Amino acid sequence: MKLIITKDHEEMSQKAAEIFSNQIKSNPKSILGLATGGTPERMYELLVNLNKSGINDWSGITTFNLDEYIGIEADHSVSYRTYMNENLFSKININLANTHVPKGTGDIELNCKKYDEAILAKGGIDLQVLGIGENAHIAFNEPGSPENGGTSIVNLTESTIQANSRYFKSINDVPKTAITMGIGSILKARKIILLASGVKKAQAIKDMIEGPMTDKVPASFLQKHNDLTIIVDQAAASLLKRT
Ligand code: GLP
Repeated sequence: MKLIITKDHEEMSQKAAEIFSNQIKSNPKSILGLATGGTPERMYELLVNLNKSGINDWSGITTFNLDEYIGIEADHSVSYRTYMNENLFSKININLANTHVPKGTGDIELNCKKYDEAILAKGGIDLQVLGIGENAHIAFNEPGSPENGGTSIVNLTESTIQANSRYFKSINDVPKTAITMGIGSILKARKIILLASGVKKAQAIKDMIEGPMTDKVPASFLQKHNDLTIIVDQAAASLLKRT
């Protein structure tokens, strides 16, 4: 595990964008695993700029997103598909047919099965970016999730519903379930970067890095991965004993 502590969210985003940019340059047909949330928004902005200035060509890139709410149509304003279209896909030269976000409507069991198969058929994810929840969830794998699980349907905890309610009109509108890549699916990525910013994430970062591997702290299972880079700002690193 490699830990990079940055001054702030901006520097964290720059380091993350640089890793993605280098991946795309070294393999223009990369399979990229993408995340939503506030944390990677600036990284996406930087990647848009790198595409516009001709440094990165996304025409051969394939993407798989981590998760989606259940019961929210893809074209809904708060869906993760809309987030990706607005923050990245509509602003770069990617072929939309090569972008994948789990489908939160229709036959969800079937969607789960097909999602893992689709990742496998492409040869697996080369580089995966993750955020982290305040309770150390990754994607939507809440505490108690199995370490080797594939894409599945999950119940969201009150803390996640609360944290994500900022995107909805009212907390009652936040879906209580989601479809998410499992921890097992995520661990198969060849390289993983995890980003965190702000003091609200400090306890989760401490538990993930310095605590035991346990399903109470889903992100702690990342300790098993052999190519993991954690990029956090000083506030998110503030509870770490060793820096
Ligand atoms: C959601 C997403 C996660 C994300 C987390 C943290 O629950 N499913 O993938 O990591 O939020 O989001 P933020 O970056 O906004 O703090």
